[in-house]
Amino acid sequence: MKQGVVGWVGMLLAMVVFAPESYSAQSLSNEICLSCHGAPGLEKKRDGKTIPLHVDAGRFSRSVHGPLGCLSCHSGIKEIPHGPEVKRVQCGLCHAEPYKVYAQSIHGKASSKGDKDAATCDDCHGTHDIFPINNPDSRVYPLNLPRTCGVCHGDPELAKRHRIPVVNAYQLYMDSIHGRALSKSGLLVAAHCSSCHGSHEIRPKRDPESKVNRTNVPSTCGTCHAGVLAEYFGSVHGQAVKDGSAVAPVCVDCHTTHEIRRVETPLWKLEIVKECGTCHRESLRTYRDTFHGQVTTLGFIRVARCSDCHGSHRILRASDPLSSISPKNLVSTCQKCHPKANANFAQFSPHADFTDKERNPGLYYAAIFMKTLLIGVFAFFGLHTFLWLLRSTIEIWGGRKRRQATEDSDEEENKDEPPGS
Ligand code: HEC
Ligand code: HEC
Ligand code: HEC
Ligand code: HEC
Ligand code: HEC
Ligand code: HEC
Ligand code: HEC
Ligand code: HEC
Ligand code: HEC
Ligand code: HEC
Ligand code: HEC
Repeated sequence: MKQGVVGWVGMLLAMVVFAPESYSAQSLSNEICLSCHGAPGLEKKRDGKTIPLHVDAGRFSRSVHGPLGCLSCHSGIKEIPHGPEVKRVQCGLCHAEPYKVYAQSIHGKASSKGDKDAATCDDCHGTHDIFPINNPDSRVYPLNLPRTCGVCHGDPELAKRHRIPVVNAYQLYMDSIHGRALSKSGLLVAAHCSSCHGSHEIRPKRDPESKVNRTNVPSTCGTCHAGVLAEYFGSVHGQAVKDGSAVAPVCVDCHTTHEIRRVETPLWKLEIVKECGTCHRESLRTYRDTFHGQVTTLGFIRVARCSDCHGSHRILRASDPLSSISPKNLVSTCQKCHPKANANFAQFSPHADFTDKERNPGLYYAAIFMKTLLIGVFAFFGLHTFLWLLRSTIEIWGGRKRRQATEDSDEEENKDEPPGS
């Protein structure tokens, strides 16, 4: 309130000192504007919201646009006092390239349709406090950027209004390995929102040009994880994706997107087995039947999981000599954990399917034998028990009848005895 009064008094003074007719647009210096807008408290109402009209002169002069005059941006103002509505600033007049790219992005398109929620230049960069992008005070400096996007993408209400499938990307991201590396370890090279989505070119994932469109995900992650990318593109999965497969996995199918965890965490190590199994159902089922599979079902990770035998990124067919499960390499794959393994040991099938006669004839007949044996044993002992029960029942009944008969005849005899004798 007090500040408001100061602001308005300042403004009135300025109106007296700088008589309107004595200023042309050229001579309107920053000091003139700041004589009214430099004092805290000046504000106006727009769309029911209170907009502060105060400009922090010190911060502005330190900003990247400090050397510019107010009018280089507010070019709509021609005289003092100016009207109540001033033309909106067009950053694109000086920054043509970012503007061109932005206009094609999801934010730019939504904004040009009049969507007030969509990010504009000043939502991401600020207005009078814009700093070079590598200055720690910049809103788009890596350490500050998640918060800048998070103002909107941490708001579930906004996501609902715009049907954005990821409701709170900010929160999820901050708990991920990348978010922690950035915010806790201050690691500037960790992925932040713009490393994966871009800045001015952000597009929804369904757009083929989007950096997070399925087909582009590997190269987006690969800008930093170059070693992994090379291995991945050499694998059956990477090859299939290159050939246009829509079902082969990309990085985020196995690692998730905003929740990426360190691969050493026990939870992830168990989840990845299920994840392979969403596409390889049969392999998961047969794996679950083996010793390794039953142990991981119980939640222990010491035994072999899919990736311990197949590898993680360079997964190849068994017929490929370079594969970790090719006949030539299989023994050494088992030896990672079973140092005494030999060719004989490696005969043990990690996907033994006793219902598949063609591939596992030995197992098939062994299973039939075991089943027959089991049924035989149950049938024999079942019958035995039944007959035993039958005999016991007959005996009990017979015994009871006999006792009844003797008791009856005893009573007959006792009738003849005089009572009390
Ligand atoms: C005499 C005091 C005074 C001076 C000098 C002055 N302004 Fe203002 N300015 C105001 C007032 C009062 C408002 C609020 C207008 C309203 O809501 O009616 C305002 C509003 C604004 C707005 C917001 C307009 C909108 O559309 O919401 C901008 C931008 C602005 N001034 C820029 C400038 C610039 C740039 C200069 C220097 C060339 C300047 N002002 C000089 C008093 C002043
Ligand atoms: C780099 C461009 C730029 C420069 C230089 C600049 N402004 Fe602004 N100013 C903006 C933007 C962007 C807005 C937000 C409203 C809009 O988009 O028109 C704004 C808004 C304002 C507002 C209204 C408050 C608001 O949030 O709507 C005032 C008052 C204002 N500026 C005063 C000044 C004064 C005084 C100077 C010089 C000291 C100045 N501006 C220099 C870009 C600039
Ligand atoms: C969604 C947030 C966002 C919006 C909207 C946005 N920017 Fe940027 N801008 C960034 C980020 C992040 C960077 C950091 C560099 C990078 O990653 O490309 C950046 C960098 C810049 C740079 C310096 C690097 C370069 O590309 O020249 C300029 C200038 C710039 N932006 C101007 C603009 C202008 C002008 C607009 C509006 C037309 C705008 N930005 C809209 C996020 C945004
Ligand atoms: C009158 C021309 C002009 C206008 C209008 C203008 N800028 Fe600038 N901007 C410059 C100049 C000059 C620089 C400093 C030179 C450079 O580094 O490119 C600059 C630098 C920047 C930078 C830092 C670039 C970097 O490489 O670190 C960003 C970000 C930026 N402007 C964003 C904006 C935004 C957002 C707006 C609109 C609110 C805007 N500019 C309006 C002229 C302008
Ligand atoms: C001022 C609020 C705001 C800011 C800041 C903002 N966004 Fe957005 N964003 C939106 C809105 C609103 C939409 C939905 C536009 C629509 O409905 O077409 C959107 C859409 C998106 C989409 C596409 C979602 C979809 O519908 O498929 C992505 C991705 C996205 N933003 C990422 C970012 C990133 C990354 C940043 C920071 C660099 C950012 N946004 C900053 C408001 C914002
Ligand atoms: C490691 C890369 C990465 C980082 C970091 C990241 N994202 Fe994403 N984001 C993606 C991918 C990939 C998708 C596509 C989702 C999918 O395929 O399931 C996505 C989807 C989204 C969507 C929904 C878009 C759509 O079209 O469905 C929004 C909104 C979003 N991200 C915002 C953000 C924000 C805000 C941040 C920072 C706080 C961020 N993201 C950080 C990779 C990332
Ligand atoms: C088929 C599932 C799958 C796909 C697709 C996949 N990964 Fe992995 N990733 C894994 C597994 C499993 C591990 C853990 C390996 C281990 O425990 O030794 C892993 C480990 C990692 C690691 C940690 C380093 C390491 O090797 O231990 C990084 C980084 C990584 N992946 C990034 C990526 C990137 C980037 C992509 C896309 C180019 C990708 N991953 C695609 C399953 C996958
Ligand atoms: C801007 C560079 C960058 C991009 C882009 C990036 N990452 Fe990372 N990522 C890192 C850094 C740096 C770390 C190490 C963080 C740490 O160790 O604290 C990391 C860690 C990881 C880890 C954990 C590795 C481990 O040792 O457990 C995985 C998994 C991972 N990233 C996957 C991805 C995936 C998937 C994508 C794409 C959706 C991606 N990354 C995009 C930089 C990036
Ligand atoms: C999103 C689905 C998906 C996920 C998740 C997935 N895969 Fe695959 N995988 C495929 C597809 C599709 C192919 C077939 C590629 C082709 O034939 O060109 C394949 C091929 C394979 C092959 C070669 C099969 C053969 O015929 O010899 C192996 C081995 C394999 N995957 C193992 C794994 C492992 C291990 C994991 C988990 C770390 C995994 N996959 C996760 C879809 C998936
Ligand atoms: C102990 C090592 C080991 C483990 C653990 C393992 N595999 Fe295998 N996998 C093999 C070997 C060896 C072959 C090739 C011989 C065969 O089919 O039995 C194979 C074959 C495959 C094939 C090709 C199947 C086909 O029909 O040609 C796929 C797909 C596969 N595994 C996926 C998985 C998945 C998914 C998991 C985890 C749920 C997994 N594997 C766990 C060793 C393993
Ligand atoms: C990641 C480590 C790991 C890998 C790789 C691995 N195993 Fe195992 N496996 C174990 C552990 C741990 C046990 C639990 C029993 C033990 O401690 O020896 C086990 C148990 C077994 C058992 C049942 C118990 C026994 O010792 O007789 C068989 C059979 C077996 N593994 C076969 C294989 C074969 C064949 C391969 C190679 C295709 C293989 N394993 C690869 C860790 C592994």
